[in-house]
Amino acid sequence: MKILLIGSGGREHALAWKLTQNPNVVLHSAPGNPGMGALGQLHPVNVDDIDGIKKLALAIKPDLVVIGPEIPLVMGLADVLRDEGILVFGPSKLAARIEGSKVFAKDFMIRHSLPTANYAVFYDEAETKTYLQSAAYPIVLKADGLAAGKGVVVCGKYSAAINALSTLAATQAGKKIIVEEFIAGDEVSFLGITDGKTILPLPSAQDHKTIYEEDRGPNTGGMGAYAPAPLVNEFLHNYIMENILQPAVDGLTVEGSPFVGVLYAGLMVSLSGPRLLEFNARFGDPETQAIMPLIKSDLAPVLLAAAKGDLEGQKLELSNRSAVSIVMSAEGYPGPFRQNDVIEGIEKANARKDVIVFQAGVGTLDGLPVTKGGRVLNVTAVGDTLRQAVDLAYTAVGDISFKGAHYRKDIGSKAFRGSPLSENTEV
Ligand code: AMP
Ligand code: GLY
Repeated sequence: MKILLIGSGGREHALAWKLTQNPNVVLHSAPGNPGMGALGQLHPVNVDDIDGIKKLALAIKPDLVVIGPEIPLVMGLADVLRDEGILVFGPSKLAARIEGSKVFAKDFMIRHSLPTANYAVFYDEAETKTYLQSAAYPIVLKADGLAAGKGVVVCGKYSAAINALSTLAATQAGKKIIVEEFIAGDEVSFLGITDGKTILPLPSAQDHKTIYEEDRGPNTGGMGAYAPAPLVNEFLHNYIMENILQPAVDGLTVEGSPFVGVLYAGLMVSLSGPRLLEFNARFGDPETQAIMPLIKSDLAPVLLAAAKGDLEGQKLELSNRSAVSIVMSAEGYPGPFRQNDVIEGIEKANARKDVIVFQAGVGTLDGLPVTKGGRVLNVTAVGDTLRQAVDLAYTAVGDISFKGAHYRKDIGSKAFRGSPLSENTEV
């Protein structure tokens, strides 16, 4: 089975690692990274080069294309490939609006009675300012379009909201602004593989968005994740499936844009129940790096079945162990960051049982691995308990060094608190 995987991050390395556990899978990646290069052939075509990917796919003739990042999805890569008769795991351009337009997503949530935060949409900066003068704080401002994690600002007071507004409104993504009620609670990522009808839920996960410990500092693409999230007990799992994921998948199908791929619900679990903050139209990064090691089944036939609209009857066997992935980032990230520093110790860490080092922003210079992106490595460990996984992951992080390496030292610590919800909670 020939698979073409689109993307070059730690998420895609984790997918590549999982897919190639099936010895019949022949992997091609575009553009991929050195870690993915060890698992298959790399093709130097960027994720936003839709025509280039189409040409590559026509030349390779894959049995399946798996699209990792949101940009090609929102640009309509899945449609372009399907028009050529190629099977694709990833939503159409219309279905990907659930991530690509936050205004579309919020309106969709209301149309389908999905529990979400109250909000108002503004098209004009002056009107937004007037609204913000009498709003309750904290409040959340969101740009409508894709903004690489920079489109959401939680504002503690009016002056912060005005600053955030002028920054967001100056961007293409911020032509429409959502002003949203602030929800306090614990965040959870809940992902399901779907063919537009059936959903196979993946282990729940928790990301760590800010650069520093205790959720301080600016937001990043994600500094670490663990799975499953103990917060998501059986009650909450069932609630999310029945009241959020299934109605969302059904709603997209009813509206004429069936969703094929991974639907990712970003939730805030508040004391009055889970609230949907956002949808993503793809696997989460770094959640996927913690989720993949917990899937026991062969993933390739499941993704193929989803692409064919044939997921009913497929099973996804999950491990009862826990996994954690710690992001090692380059000095300066999420701002301008150091590059081209030699990375040492990847092999030493990888040689440990139950440790996998997924590569993200890694390049090669004179045959050596060097830092290239902001998030460089995702050091992942599996354990019988989350505590064991966390301890092992930090031991493995200790094997690795590069100049200016940064990582959060508290990945996983939130998990040991448990769920605030039970069957007696009114939601
Ligand atoms: P999003 O891209 O919508 O997930 O937003 C990015 C981050 O902003 C989330 O992961 C939350 O930490 C935070 N956030 C977004 N919406 C809200 C909200 N309504 N209340 C509190 N925090 C929020
Ligand atoms: N981990 C957050 C995201 O993938 O958007």
